[in-house]
Amino acid sequence: MKGFSKRLAHVQEYYFSQKLKEVAKLKAEGKNVINMGIGSPDLPPHRSVIEALNTTASSKHAHGYQGYQGIPALREAIGQFYQDHYQVRLNPDSEILPLMGSKEGIVHVSMAFLDEGDEVLIPNPGYPTYAAACKLAGAHAIAYDLKEENNWEPDFEALKALDLTKVKIMWVNYPHMPTGSRGSKELFQKIIQFGLENDVLIVNDNPYSFILENEPKSILSISGAHEIALELNSLSKTANMAGWRVGWLAGRADLIDAVLKVKSNMDSGMFLGIQRGAIAALSLGKGWYTGLNEEYQRRKMLILELASLLDLDVSKGAVGMFVWAKIKNNQSEIEFVDRLLSEKYIFITPGSIFGSNGAGYVRFSLCVPEVQIREAIERIKSI
Ligand SMILES: Cc1ncc(COP(=O)(O)O)c(C=O)c1O
Repeated sequence: MKGFSKRLAHVQEYYFSQKLKEVAKLKAEGKNVINMGIGSPDLPPHRSVIEALNTTASSKHAHGYQGYQGIPALREAIGQFYQDHYQVRLNPDSEILPLMGSKEGIVHVSMAFLDEGDEVLIPNPGYPTYAAACKLAGAHAIAYDLKEENNWEPDFEALKALDLTKVKIMWVNYPHMPTGSRGSKELFQKIIQFGLENDVLIVNDNPYSFILENEPKSILSISGAHEIALELNSLSKTANMAGWRVGWLAGRADLIDAVLKVKSNMDSGMFLGIQRGAIAALSLGKGWYTGLNEEYQRRKMLILELASLLDLDVSKGAVGMFVWAKIKNNQSEIEFVDRLLSEKYIFITPGSIFGSNGAGYVRFSLCVPEVQIREAIERIKSI
């Protein structure tokens, strides 16, 4: 055995993969750990989604390989979803590529567009997979600052001052994880203008557009976006289907084709039952989103109470699946999180795993039943 690839030296085991082993150990010791770390919806998908999966799975003809681009009905359902919710028209034959979650798309996009020596703009703080995928592709990640005083939006003057000649991709993610910054039409316009002026492919990662947000937005609705932008999206959070692994990439046909070249060498299609379930999920009406958000809103109010008991400052006007909170008195977020876990058996995420600008912050997930959040509140009150 002559050793591992050089590219592995640039990536680390995912934080949660390590930390959840620690949480599992505490649980095995009989500790009742309340896990507020991860954004994996605990609520079930709509009944019609499960029915579509079950019916399809019972059919004799559902079990063979599926096409690399998904069945036409799935692409049509995604197209209709973009039209209904974001007022964006897409050609289902050429401008939509179903994926096994948007996370795989981040890697495929990186493989399709990057070579060694290329550079990529990555949000700090932001989802760690952008940098990991960039490094796996041999490219160089350049972090761009998002700061609370700027509502966690890019500073375009600072970006324009960079040498952008080697920058091929800029990752953006609004509604933003972990901060919950909403992103506005004006922000998307500035991002598209920046991409066009500097010939940088913009990729908006958009899995949170429906969570505690009444006006879901797509960057593809912005004039000029078709030229320079792609969008990743997913049913993981929107339809409580994180474990199903359904997402997609949308945008210009030749860009989608490039990603298909990579993807078609990596997997052999998505199980038909999952595709049928996804179609049912994409067709859910407004009532689904209202019900989901009523539940998340109740949970959020309780988490805000918990954050206040922990003497944390919470950003106002945030959306999405998390509460992002600032620790007072320059305490270290790593120590704060470790102490909460070891003393109160409550697990939350330290902001610094999302980049250096997350230092001093922590993230609470809303994917926790009310009863457990109330239990966490009681544990803190009993200090
Ligand atoms: C910003 C962001 N992008 C992408 C993903 C991956 O989502 P999916 O389940 O669609 O792969 C996540 C998951 O937590 C996320 O927070």
